Amino acid sequence: MSHDGQVAYEYEYSYSQLYDNRAPTGVWYLDQLLQGGLRRGEIYLVAGEAGQGKTIFGLQFLKTGAELYGESGLYITIDEPSDDVKRGVKESLGWDLDAFESQSKVIFVDLRTHFKIYAREEKVVADPRDISKIIIEYVKKYGIKRLVIDPIAPLIITSHSDVLWVREYMRELVFQLRKLKDVTTVLTSEIPTGENKISRFGVEEYLASGVIKLELMEYRGFVFRVMFVRKMRWIPVRPQKLVFEIYPQYGIYVLDRLENFIKQIDAWYAGQQTQWEQAAAPYGAPAE
Ligand SMILES: Nc1ncnc2c1ncn2[C@@H]1O[C@H](COP(=O)(O)OP(=O)(O)OP(=O)(O)O)[C@@H](O)[C@H]1O
Ligand SMILES: [Mg+2]
Repeated sequence: MSHDGQVAYEYEYSYSQLYDNRAPTGVWYLDQLLQGGLRRGEIYLVAGEAGQGKTIFGLQFLKTGAELYGESGLYITIDEPSDDVKRGVKESLGWDLDAFESQSKVIFVDLRTHFKIYAREEKVVADPRDISKIIIEYVKKYGIKRLVIDPIAPLIITSHSDVLWVREYMRELVFQLRKLKDVTTVLTSEIPTGENKISRFGVEEYLASGVIKLELMEYRGFVFRVMFVRKMRWIPVRPQKLVFEIYPQYGIYVLDRLENFIKQIDAWYAGQQTQWEQAAAPYGAPAE
């Protein structure tokens, strides 16, 4: 691991230098890499297959803002009742988001109750302008500085299977969200399992200022989580992969860069081999 004093020093340093136009995500290493965090007022995409940590990333971003930086957050869910999400992270990570909500520091909004998008009898298509109107109301009412829409796809899954229509819809929604100049937004996007895409409709990554993909990787029998920092508009950072874990209390925690992690695995194998060779040596030793 490379969390040595030097890195910590640089981290503090970059925070103090650039904090003003950055919203720290609460993922320590990532914030250091991004010179303080996500750019304020921009829209980011966190994409990944099921179970890769998109919801945890979004909630960590909101929790960090509320807890450490006095920034109120708005969490918009469509698919999953927000109570289930809160219960889930309480049980798995020990995060008590009800406490934040009762102090209006993180507001949970279940968009279904606004639009009845999934009313069984009819699928109502919510106009992006109406969605943004609701969001703007909350933003004004609670002084929201951080917004998470988790995930973005159900907003646009309708009888319209026409990809061009969906893309137009997405463009309009992002256009509306961009008007929230003081709000830093994280949109999550589900990637169907096994598909090597960055986003569901192939347009989200162009509309977003930055894209982070969460994925699983396998190397020499080890399976681990990887955060692929793919695109970061106006932040001097090259695309790179970071190995992370999900820990109680911490949430997402970066262990190391992928290349370093792979070296560690190789070293581990080399060590193992030496042990095997040593263990086998008496049997393999030539008879005198
Ligand atoms: N305490 C924990 N320790 C280790 N892993 C954990 C812990 N809590 C949650 N996880 C992992 O987090 C993952 C779920 O993360 P999350 O719900 O953020 O994923 P997601 O990408 O939003 O998934 P979905 O697409 O289904 O909404 C699970 O796969 C689980 O393995
Ligand atoms: Mg999720």
